[in-house]
Amino acid sequence: MINILKKLSTLLAGLALIFGSVDAKKYENAETKKALIVYFSHTRNTKLIAERAQKELTAANYQVDLQRIEPTKNYPEYGDKLRNLALKEANDDNCRPKFKSMNINAQNYDLILIGTPVWWYKAPKVVLSFMEKQDFSGKKVRFFITHAGGPGTCISDMKSACKAANFGKNIDIYCNSPGNGKVDYNETISWIKKIKEEMED
Ligand SMILES: Cc1cc2nc3c(=O)[nH]c(=O)nc-3n(C[C@H](O)[C@H](O)[C@H](O)COP(=O)(O)O)c2cc1C
Repeated sequence: MINILKKLSTLLAGLALIFGSVDAKKYENAETKKALIVYFSHTRNTKLIAERAQKELTAANYQVDLQRIEPTKNYPEYGDKLRNLALKEANDDNCRPKFKSMNINAQNYDLILIGTPVWWYKAPKVVLSFMEKQDFSGKKVRFFITHAGGPGTCISDMKSACKAANFGKNIDIYCNSPGNGKVDYNETISWIKKIKEEMED
């Protein structure tokens, strides 16, 4: 009888341990928010901002996927050829350049940050190509754009490409053109801080 009781208490202790750890895991998972940072970048300014945003969110215990929008056909190096092609695309409302396939479902994330340089006062069309293929409805979507002084309609172009999303604070960051590997991260750091607070509300 004593033996049976001992076995029973060992079994109960084991069960408590198992269920205890399952509960702890559940709690842990509930705390980990998933963020997607997706960006287009030609001369690296936007890439650097995206990477910094990833660093800040990761430090805040977010699980972050960082993805780059890559056009199927590479754009020319910075210079007249690029400027002319980008201008042609900017003036063509129907232009939607193809991009390399990406395994993304926006609905899987709690937070989505989308970044791009400004091209001819607008969002580059390849960014719209990507956005129009996703379902952002009900999702918290925030934008970060880099530019050399004339952000134009870039953010509203992107907003129009994901109408049913939940918008909030976006940032536009002044950068060198072309990028020289030096960007100021202060705005990005305080932006991510604000987003984190907003997500906790
Ligand atoms: C084709 C082209 C068009 C641009 N048009 C604008 C513009 O309209 N307004 C602006 O402020 N900056 C403009 N820029 C500057 C870029 O937006 C800026 O340098 C940006 O940070 C580049 O980002 P990236 O390094 O991630 O490609 C343009 C740059 C290029 C290459």
